[in-house]
Amino acid sequence: MQFPRTCLILCSALLLCSSFTYGQKASPPAPIALTPTPTPAPAPAPEYVNLTYLLSVAGPFHTFLNYLESTKLVDTFQNQANNTKQGITIFVPKDSSFKGLKKPSLSNLSNDQLKSLILFHALPKYYALADFSELSTKSPVSTLAGGKYTLNFTDDAGTVHLDSGWSKTEVTSAVHSTDPVAIYQVNKVLLPEAIFGTDIPPMPAPAPAPTPDISPAADAPSADSKGGSSSKSLPSNSSSRSIVELSLSIWSQMVLAVFGGLVLLF
Ligand SMILES: *[C@@H]1O[C@H](CO)[C@@H](O)[C@H](O)[C@H]1NC(C)=O
Ligand SMILES: *[C@@H]1O[C@H](CO)[C@@H](O)[C@H](O)[C@H]1NC(C)=O
Ligand SMILES: *[C@@H]1O[C@H](CO)[C@@H](O)[C@H](O)[C@H]1NC(C)=O
Ligand SMILES: *[C@@H]1O[C@H](CO)[C@@H](O)[C@H](O)[C@H]1NC(C)=O
Ligand SMILES: *[C@@H]1O[C@H](CO)[C@@H](O)[C@H](O)[C@H]1NC(C)=O
Repeated sequence: MQFPRTCLILCSALLLCSSFTYGQKASPPAPIALTPTPTPAPAPAPEYVNLTYLLSVAGPFHTFLNYLESTKLVDTFQNQANNTKQGITIFVPKDSSFKGLKKPSLSNLSNDQLKSLILFHALPKYYALADFSELSTKSPVSTLAGGKYTLNFTDDAGTVHLDSGWSKTEVTSAVHSTDPVAIYQVNKVLLPEAIFGTDIPPMPAPAPAPTPDISPAADAPSADSKGGSSSKSLPSNSSSRSIVELSLSIWSQMVLAVFGGLVLLF
């Protein structure tokens, strides 16, 4: 009995010492975590959402992101996200959707048309998925491209359908949806009538080579996109997490220390 007991006491003493020094080193940040009020700056401004980062890790949305960057509209989008109360809702087609787009090609568009087409993929307001049933009653809905660049929405038992005339598609997953920024994946590039005209070919498309043509190659790497329809939980980069972890570890150290102290007393 003697040896284990000594050992226990020694161990506890060690623990006590180590947690004491640890606690001393770590204690300065603790008051920040414990008192909720003293961080006034982050409170009014919503957390910064880096659109470039989000689009570069989800999807793959590289084609859309490249268009955003080549047209410099990424600043317009980011500004809408950063600096407006309304926020932004972005509909992003995957790379495979751009690849699958053969008939009206984007290659002949002027720079201004291309800009309008990209702006056409966003609404100047944040909409949660639940907001679309109401939005569907307000049919032609203005996009960030303004003017005649409108989209129609319908909400079919929770599935959000988009109609631009040329493009009938749906939201297939939510990449991000926290006020003020929503990013939804859609199945097709949205082609505005304001660019391509109203002379829409009557549903010709996928007859010769149905969907397999488009899907297997580029859809393969992210099979999760269909299933994970709610969200890829993205790394939210707030320092709050590390503060919580820190205070947790301090807390557990304190418990150990008290415990060790009790053992020592006996
Ligand atoms: C946003 O993310 C991109 C890509 O990760 C990065 O290059 C850029 O520096 C970030 N911008 C800011 C302001 O953090
Ligand atoms: C958006 O906010 C971030 C972080 O405050 C900043 O780095 C970035 O330059 C802002 N971008 C725009 C377009 O306002
Ligand atoms: C692009 O423009 C060229 C020349 O103006 C034309 O020959 C070609 O058919 C156009 N392609 C598409 C896809 O509209
Ligand atoms: C959108 O809705 C409006 C109003 O219901 C309708 O007039 C218009 O034709 C619709 N556009 C498309 C492309 O379906
Ligand atoms: C998260 O923060 C770390 C450093 O604090 C940074 O290196 C990383 O790029 C950030 N990631 C995002 C998603 O902004």
